[in-house]
Amino acid sequence: MKKIIITIDGPAASGKEKIAKYISKKWKLSHLDSGILYRRLALIFFIDNVEINNVYKIKKKLKEVNKISFRNSKKIRTQNISKLASKIAIHSCVRSFVNNLQYNFVKKHRKFHGFVIDGRDIGSVVFKNADLKLYIEVNPEIRAKRRYKQLIDSGEKSIYPKILKDIKLRDRRDKIRKNSPLVIPKDANIINNNGTFKNTCMQIIKLLEKF
Ligand code: DC
Repeated sequence: MKKIIITIDGPAASGKEKIAKYISKKWKLSHLDSGILYRRLALIFFIDNVEINNVYKIKKKLKEVNKISFRNSKKIRTQNISKLASKIAIHSCVRSFVNNLQYNFVKKHRKFHGFVIDGRDIGSVVFKNADLKLYIEVNPEIRAKRRYKQLIDSGEKSIYPKILKDIKLRDRRDKIRKNSPLVIPKDANIINNNGTFKNTCMQIIKLLEKF
């Protein structure tokens, strides 16, 4: 049986993770959140004090990294690591390192009948031949409000205007970078996630009925 690949791209805090989890549970697909891999690398670079503008030092560090955890954790969800992840993601050596991790993940988990993978370049670069491509759209103000609530609920101190500013900065960095910028893949289905999650799910169910 052919393995189905669903890609989900979209800007920071657009709800990709929640949507991917919903799809993976309902259609029994394995979920891979590529943002976690950029965040894990950002944490390593931060702890080891790697100069993130020095490509030579980054390449040297990447050669030393032999294992990356695919697990989410509170440590990689801080504002500091979010910012750092988007800064290191501009380098092509970092992107090919993460892309290889993704290809190996899909190869290794053959027993699953499919995958749902989310990020910024999944439908446009990493899995160009995916069976279904989704692009999530949400206004920056709504994204900032949701992220603010998430941080407050998890006990982190947070200021709404700063969150909004950071989100806009990350959007800009993700969209204008030379290597694999965030774009709407030309064959993607746009999912409007400004409203309720139920409304978002209805749009997805309609698309997935065809499979
Ligand atoms: O989805 P996220 O917020 O966890 O991603 C963190 C950063 O990682 C994001 O600002 C840009 C980068 N990223 C990327 O460049 N490409 C991906 N496929 C996933 C994430």
